[in-house]
Amino acid sequence: MPVRAKLVAANWKMNGSQSENERWLATFRSAPPHCETVVCPPFVYLAQVAQGLERTQAGIGAQNLCLQVAGAWTGEVAGEMLIDLGAQWVIVGHSERRAAYGETDEIVAAKAERAIAAGLRPIVCIGETLEQREGGRTQQVVMAQLDAILRRCSVAQLANGALAYEPVWAIGTGRTATPQQAQQVHATIRARLAGADQASAAATRVLYGGSVKPGNAAELFSQPDIDGGLIGGASLVANDFLAICAAAR
Ligand code: PGA
Repeated sequence: MPVRAKLVAANWKMNGSQSENERWLATFRSAPPHCETVVCPPFVYLAQVAQGLERTQAGIGAQNLCLQVAGAWTGEVAGEMLIDLGAQWVIVGHSERRAAYGETDEIVAAKAERAIAAGLRPIVCIGETLEQREGGRTQQVVMAQLDAILRRCSVAQLANGALAYEPVWAIGTGRTATPQQAQQVHATIRARLAGADQASAAATRVLYGGSVKPGNAAELFSQPDIDGGLIGGASLVANDFLAICAAAR
C-alpha cells in the first residue's frame, strides 16, 4: 500500500481581515510546518495569502467556486479566476454550503468536476447530520454523497485532490467524532473508492474534519485511513494550526 503523505488544510470560512491575516502569515512563516498544508481564506484574501506564503511550501485554496466558466453570473467566482490568483486547491461541498446555499449532492459533484476541469485540486466534503447518524443512516448518506461524486469524477482525479469526511454534528461544535468513529467511516469511504479503482483508492487522501484541535489531532491522524484534517475554528489561530500540522508528522 502506498504511503499517503498527510495533508492538513485550513478552512478560514468567512473570517479574517488584511491585518489579522498578516499576523497569521507572519507566525506561519516563522515556523513553517513539515507536513503538506493548504490554506483556504475567503476569496477576497486569496491574493494576499498567496503572496504571504510565496516562499513557503504551503498550498492555497478557495472555499467554493462557480459551476460556470465565465460570463453573466453576478457575484460568482470561476475556477479559472482562482488559478489566476494563485490557488491550486478548492473546497467543494462543505456542509455549510450544502445546508445554507442549497448545494445538493448533484451540485457538489458537478462543482468537483468543474474544479478538476479548471485545473484545481478539489477537497470534496461529505458527511452526515446528527439526525442521520442517530437514525442509523450514516453509511447510506455518506455513500450516496460519494457515489454522486464518482459518477462525475474518477478516483484518480480525486486522488489528485482529497476527500474530507466531516460529520456535520462535529463541525464547530467542539464535539469531535472519536478516532474509532471516524476511522470506521473513512475505511468505508476507501472501500467504496477501491471498488472503482483500487490503486487510486490507496493513494487518495481522506481528511477528517470537525472540531480538530491541537489536543485531539494526533490520535485522529494516527488512524490508518485518516490522512490529515480539514480544520475550521482552530485554523484561525496560527499557532494552533501549526500544532495540528505537527501532529500530522
Ligand atoms: P471546525 O470546522 O474545525 O471548526 O469544526 C471544520 C470545517 O468546517 O471544515
